[in-house]
Amino acid sequence: WTVTPFARDLPVPQVLRPHAVGPDADHYRLTVAEGTAEIVPGVRTRVLTYNGQFPGPTIMARQGRAARVTVENTLGVQTSVHLHGGNVAQDSDGHPLDAIDPGRSRTYHYPNSQRPGTLWYHDHAHHLEAEHVYRGLSGLYLIDEGWPSLRLPSGAHDVPLLFRDADLTGDGELRWELFGQGGRTMVLVNGVAQPRLKVRRRRYRLRLVNGANERPFRFRLSNGAQFTQLGSDGGLLGRPVQRSEITLWAAERADVVVDFAPYAEGTQIVLENADGEADSATRVLRFDVVGHPERDDSVIPETLAAVPAPRTPTVTRKVLLSFDPLAGFLINGKAYDPQRIDFTVKRGTTELWEITNLDTLLQVPHSLHLHLVQFRVLDRDGVRAPEWEAYPKDTVAVPPGSTVRILVTFDSRHTGIYPFHCHFLDHSSLAMMAQLRIVA
Ligand code: C2O
Ligand code: CU
Repeated sequence: WTVTPFARDLPVPQVLRPHAVGPDADHYRLTVAEGTAEIVPGVRTRVLTYNGQFPGPTIMARQGRAARVTVENTLGVQTSVHLHGGNVAQDSDGHPLDAIDPGRSRTYHYPNSQRPGTLWYHDHAHHLEAEHVYRGLSGLYLIDEGWPSLRLPSGAHDVPLLFRDADLTGDGELRWELFGQGGRTMVLVNGVAQPRLKVRRRRYRLRLVNGANERPFRFRLSNGAQFTQLGSDGGLLGRPVQRSEITLWAAERADVVVDFAPYAEGTQIVLENADGEADSATRVLRFDVVGHPERDDSVIPETLAAVPAPRTPTVTRKVLLSFDPLAGFLINGKAYDPQRIDFTVKRGTTELWEITNLDTLLQVPHSLHLHLVQFRVLDRDGVRAPEWEAYPKDTVAVPPGSTVRILVTFDSRHTGIYPFHCHFLDHSSLAMMAQLRIVA
């Protein structure tokens, strides 16, 4: 197989239709099954799918309107579905040990009573999540404002872009191994290598999602144009920010607007990953400008969403991230033990977490993801976090030797046990995970 760059159109994952619309929730069905996908032209690659799709279908939820998602597991092993960024009850969190056995199904309840934003769902079966996500078990979950008060680009002008990397064998099969990231030099956008997207001469909203197991992306536009960033992990920022480069580590999201109005028909603008080691990981997507200037009713307002004022923390915690060749990937010196509660947190309180990556010798990067809540990144090595990292964040990059301070208000109404972990999925699969119990 070979890939001719920008010869295929970008596929946009299908929007999942509810199979029933109840009085208080929309009901969806997802079937986890083996399947195939055309990652490179003319080759059927064996993958894992939700509803036969790679990546899975997009669930379009509305703020204030609940969703129930029934997941059927047709695999020979367990699966668990985690709504990353979701404020949900413990039994719908997709905890790694609260999995769906082969042949069984289960219904997750998502209240969607949180900030609108770009969420995603992915497999979280304990020890299997890295392989499952790599083989295809992820999809987007967008929560939109129930009553659009903002006139952001929408419909066909709101394009989800789920990025991940892959390593294909000579006969076009996905090559999987733990720590095989060095070989994953092909970047896929919505499941396809180096696609192109025809854009009209107007503004587009792009939801950039890093769905890779390990790879960070540093996005920029080949003509030097700016992104207007509207949102980060858990929803809209306080106000838009102009950026010429956007770095996203695994699981991080950026909601951006790019204006194609100034460019003549025929202009080609490549979305590049400045950190790509090969062309297939560098020139990841091309925008081809077509048509005449278009009427564009969208508006990018000067203020987007209210950002809660930082509260004074009542508890300070230290979180140490490390890798030990003998003991493995550790949080505070320990591997994950489902019987252990690492932190007990009082609901409604605010905590200051000081997260340090101790791996200066081996230079292992780590990140930290908290289930259930969105937090504020205060600073990294004493330098104030940029405003796009301030809030709402659920995953934060912690480079080797760095200390990052975050302020977390446990403002969810839910109590119970929730994990927090490194979102380098090979690390979390190998027990770089801990858990907290939230009590009333
Ligand atoms: Cu996206 Cu616990 O993970
Ligand atoms: Cu890690």
